Amino acid sequence: MLILGIESSCDETGVALVQLDLNAPRRSIPKLLGAALHSQIEMHRAYGGVVPELASRDHIRRLIPLTKQVLASADAALDAIDLIAFTRGPGLAGALLVGSAAACALGSALGKPVLGVHHLEGHLLSPFLSADPPEFPFIALLVSGGHTQLMRVDGVGEYALLGETIDDAAGEAFDKTAKLLDLPYPGGPQLAKLAESGDSQAFKFPRPLLHSGDLDFSFAGLKTAVLTQVKRLVGDVPEGATVRGAGIESLSHETQRNLAASIQAAITEVLVKKSLKAVQQSDLNRLVVAGGVGANKSLREQLNAACKAKGIRVHYPELHLCTDNGAMIALAAAMRLQTKKRSPLGTTLLM
Ligand code: KG4
Ligand code: ZN
Repeated sequence: MLILGIESSCDETGVALVQLDLNAPRRSIPKLLGAALHSQIEMHRAYGGVVPELASRDHIRRLIPLTKQVLASADAALDAIDLIAFTRGPGLAGALLVGSAAACALGSALGKPVLGVHHLEGHLLSPFLSADPPEFPFIALLVSGGHTQLMRVDGVGEYALLGETIDDAAGEAFDKTAKLLDLPYPGGPQLAKLAESGDSQAFKFPRPLLHSGDLDFSFAGLKTAVLTQVKRLVGDVPEGATVRGAGIESLSHETQRNLAASIQAAITEVLVKKSLKAVQQSDLNRLVVAGGVGANKSLREQLNAACKAKGIRVHYPELHLCTDNGAMIALAAAMRLQTKKRSPLGTTLLM
């Protein structure tokens, strides 16, 4: 069975084709036959962030060429597709609408069913496409641009939320503090790059809720702490002004690198400690990391070291599957069909 996956929730148009053998044993992982992705980063960069209307229009332009590209690379005909999966949310309304409209139109033209997939379920299951796929059950750390959650995952559709952010997500913390440092969009990877050669001990930023006793997170205070610190370093910033455009460039490159490294350390320390706590509070010894922030090198290094010390196995998606892509949507649909369970996160069989 061939499943086409369409992702269009934000600033990436992703299309992929996955093969599911319904007669294979339940544990066999669906196979990725082809994938294509178009990132809108260049287009949005001039505006310092995603412009929703531009995103929607670009998804419209990209979807058909990307679909043709995927089918050609997998040597598959359009009418060989058995099911079309698309991201049903969460995401930008207009951008989601493009993906769902394209999926429904294709489904209607081919007379094939269409399945709406929850974006976070796509991220959550994406490590199954890696060279070192996990096995159920496991604790998952889901760290994307809009969500930071710890979950117990017993199988496809069997998700129990253990803790989550009460304000900003980890990705948002990366992006917002990167903006304060006047780094170009998308801030997270830029800040991580700058941090590579910085001193993570140079500045002491808060680790909110680190000792709260629960598995919740809070990152909103970090940007205020960074803003205060940078204002102190820059000096005479007018009341109410953001640091941006108010002299960040007057700081030495070394100070900027140290700021970036210290910000990254504050975010990753909380993620690592709470993830370990979640695993240790469970009867499990497996951690799965998913979502865009899961691409962060320092986070991976710290998690690897901490998990090794505690005898915990840790799994990640392949780097190119950490951020949004069509493969995770096709895979989530395939794994759902394999287990024949409806998603508590909301999977819709439309046709
Ligand atoms: O999962 P994702 O692609 O989109 C959402 O579903 O939100 O995650 C995007 C987030 C952004 O906040 C981005 O800055 C962050 O992931 N991100 C990173 C890195 N790569 C992406 N944050 C830190 N370090 C990275 N290397
Ligand atoms: Zn995402």
